[in-house]
Amino acid sequence: MKKLAAGNWKMNGNRAALAEVTALLAAHPAPACDMLLCPPTTLLAEMAALAAGSALHVGGQDCHPNASGAHTGDISAAMLVDAGASHVILGHSERRADHGETDALVLAKAEAAIAAGLIAVVCLGETEAQRDADETLAVIGAQLDGSVPHNATAANLVLAYEPVWAIGTGRTPTLEQIAEVHAFLRTRLTGRIGTAAAGVRLLYGGSVKPSNAAEIFAVSDVDGALVGGASLKAADFGAIVSALAAA
Ligand code: PGA
Repeated sequence: MKKLAAGNWKMNGNRAALAEVTALLAAHPAPACDMLLCPPTTLLAEMAALAAGSALHVGGQDCHPNASGAHTGDISAAMLVDAGASHVILGHSERRADHGETDALVLAKAEAAIAAGLIAVVCLGETEAQRDADETLAVIGAQLDGSVPHNATAANLVLAYEPVWAIGTGRTPTLEQIAEVHAFLRTRLTGRIGTAAAGVRLLYGGSVKPSNAAEIFAVSDVDGALVGGASLKAADFGAIVSALAAA
């Protein structure tokens, strides 16, 4: 399978930040892995135009389960497609926390995204309290069962394991903990969608940076990364892309 270096700009970046995309494409015109950047919606169409014909895919950070309607402030999957997106991040822990998103809502969004032709990047992960209570596998297993559509395939689903306590903190799980979770996710996903699970990219996310990327990418069943802070600068994200391409 082709590995995936995905960046989530979150609520960061104005149009001037698109210079980072130009720099990234100049430095990595044809990497041996897929690249994805998910900017704020305001930058999506312009970033997609910059990325056209390149190795870079662009995606949204959320979508509404409905195709259109009276939902002030929301964006539908079809609108993301229209703006040039091929992917959408769903169920990020910041959405789950800031907007009270449940597994059922993430599932509805993922179904809508897939129906619109997008690749759904579904995120899951435990809090620190859950890990301390030894609930990690139970929590992420329930999140997977509750938020991954039954009709998902390797072509329309990416799964991202992001421990909540590792996001933006500079802390990461041990490589053994990442390996344990990713092996568990592969098995659990097989139970949910069958043999297609073997080809679904399983990303690790949470404080991935140039200095730890190579060791994380060497862990089995880690097929790429979902990168927050380090995706904002072309040099940092490019170094992560290089580490993944070499893995
Ligand atoms: P981080 O964020 O790389 O800044 O820790 C990861 C994420 O939230 O996807």
